[in-house]
This record gives sequence, structure tokens and C-alpha cells, in this order.
Amino acid sequence: MTIKVGDTIPNVTVHVLDENGAPKAVQTHDVLGKGKVVLFAVPGAFTPGCSNIHLPGYVKNREALRAKGVETVACISVNDPWVMDSWSKAYGAEGIVMVSDGSGVFAKAVGLDADVSAFGLGIRSRRYSAILENGVVQELNVEEGPGITVSACEIVLDHL
Ligand code: BEZ
Repeated sequence: MTIKVGDTIPNVTVHVLDENGAPKAVQTHDVLGKGKVVLFAVPGAFTPGCSNIHLPGYVKNREALRAKGVETVACISVNDPWVMDSWSKAYGAEGIVMVSDGSGVFAKAVGLDADVSAFGLGIRSRRYSAILENGVVQELNVEEGPGITVSACEIVLDHL
């Protein structure tokens, strides 16, 4: 079942890279469940759409999101934490919390996993954005097609 507005996000283990470059297990309620959070999910770090459009939109608008009370902007992907960290550094995304859902546990728990085997990527996440308030979904924008429309940062900004 897919998560919907009004639901609390599942509390599962994901990873971030710590200050020593080691994977650190964290709970989604700790990284995503406090205050006003904008979360966006991508099918893969370094893929063209994610790197050229989706992530840069959130990097460019990080301060505008802060001005609207967003304490945490987080990006989640079925990638390992080193890839997420390298992607962040390559695209100047230091203001965004990069969450590694390497085993797709969160993607499956929210019912937004996607089979991207046609591109050789296996099971990943659908592309979406969400506004969370203390872990409760206020808005969920799931892309139905391959483009980046409803989940773009500009849409989230408009709706805050
Ligand atoms: C992209 O973001 O461009 C992309 C994502 C998944 C598969 C192929 C391309």
C-alpha cells in the first residue's frame, strides 16, 4: 500500500555517511520525523534527470525553503551512502541531507519502490517529493511518468 497524506512515515533504518566517511545507521523518524521536512526521492544518484534537474532545483532553492520554515531538506535514493555523498559534493548539495536507502527498505515501506530493470538499475524508488510535519505526510507528489514535474522543488515551494 502506498503512503498517503495524513500517514506517518515508517520508522526504518537507513544510512548517512558520518564525518569519518563511514556509513551510520539512522532511523527515518530521527532524520525525517522532526519539524517541517521536505523530502524528495530519486531513482538514482548521478542519473541525468536527477543530476541535471531534480537535485539542482532543491540546491538552488534551499534558502527559499528555509525562509518558508523548512528545517530539513532530504534526498533519499536506493544507492549506497558513499555514492550519495559523492553526488552531494559533485552538485554542491551540502545543505541537503543525503539519505541512503541502499536496500530499498524505505521505498518498499512507503509503497513507492519501482522496478527500473529496463535501465539495468533493479529495484529503486519512484520519483516523488513530500512535505512532512513531524513525520506526518502533508503533501505527496509522485511522478507518474519519466519527467520531473510534480516533484520539482518549485512546486513544493508554491505549496508551502
Ligand atoms: C534519470 O534520472 O535520468 C533516469 C532515472 C532512472 C533511469 C534512467 C534515467
